[in-house]
Amino acid sequence: MLAPQDAKILIVDDESYIREILSRWLSKDGYDCITAGNGEEALQALALHHVCLMISDIMMPGISGLELLATAKKQHQDLAVIMATAVDDRQVGTQALELGAYGYVIKPLDRNEILINVANGLHLRQLEMENRRHREELEHLVDERTRKLQETIHKLQDTERELSISREETIQRLAMAAEFRDDETALHTVRMGSFCQILAVKAGLPAAACELIRTAGPLHDVGKIGTPDNILLKPGKLTAEEFEIIKKHSEIGHRLLSNSRSAMLEKGAIIAWTHHEKFNGSGYPRGLAGEDIPVEGRIAAVCDVFDALTSDRVYKKAYPIDKALEIMMEGRGSHFDPVLLDLFMDAMEEVLAVKDEYVDNQTRQAP
Ligand SMILES: [Fe+2]
Ligand SMILES: [Fe+2]
Repeated sequence: MLAPQDAKILIVDDESYIREILSRWLSKDGYDCITAGNGEEALQALALHHVCLMISDIMMPGISGLELLATAKKQHQDLAVIMATAVDDRQVGTQALELGAYGYVIKPLDRNEILINVANGLHLRQLEMENRRHREELEHLVDERTRKLQETIHKLQDTERELSISREETIQRLAMAAEFRDDETALHTVRMGSFCQILAVKAGLPAAACELIRTAGPLHDVGKIGTPDNILLKPGKLTAEEFEIIKKHSEIGHRLLSNSRSAMLEKGAIIAWTHHEKFNGSGYPRGLAGEDIPVEGRIAAVCDVFDALTSDRVYKKAYPIDKALEIMMEGRGSHFDPVLLDLFMDAMEEVLAVKDEYVDNQTRQAP
């Protein structure tokens, strides 16, 4: 609570004897008083002095007391105002309070009533100032906490992004490790991921599934890690026995990747297990047919054969795209899901853009 000597009070009245009497009463109680004879003078005084409380007449020539009240409160939000009037008009009183006056006293003025109103006005002013300060501190605190929370969220997102990049890279490298022996650049795995994603999007799979298939697709042949070199790299035709050994890569891949808590590895396990199944049931390892073959497997079958036909290998040369597509169309409905094969053909522009980006000999094809 302010000591009276610290509370400067501005008395505004066009009657000089009212200014004098109020000054005398208040000064006697220790208040520091200044006076103004009209609204203009009062506004000047408010601009010059740090006034805590203003007692203002209502009926004055020039700016009225109510106008002065409105302007003064707008310019000095911490100013306490008490209105004094000779007219006991409830409507004027209500208006004064609505404009922010703390009190309303009726003339003839009574010393005690004035002193009580001033003390109350100053007390209320103090409370309002403290209240505002608390509110501002709280807002500041909330802003600060929000900023810190956002910082933490950004850091978490960065960590999450980094983790996901390193997780994906680990998977890619694992897939490449299996591929290196018969594909030195191992770009087949990267293209597989992209082709599978393109076809999954075309097939209308949910966005999350398409992303998962992109990262898991490269794992389809991870089981080749268990295929001996003399069979994997054999240039000529394989014997029936050798082919049986090659076929095992599906199940080895599945065993390597399954029973994981990672959705990506689980998806990789399904793709490894089913990418050599054929739509008519003549594929391996389980001879699944039609939609019994998981959609990821049917997608991978189309993409894998396309990339194998259009890439050089140690044991064979690449087919031109047209020839490769012709061969694939012969397998429409027998080897491949006809709907997915059609969608893959529709997406050929995107597919070839990927093929062009990841070229095995590391030199970009001319556009
Ligand atoms: Fe395979
Ligand atoms: Fe493959």
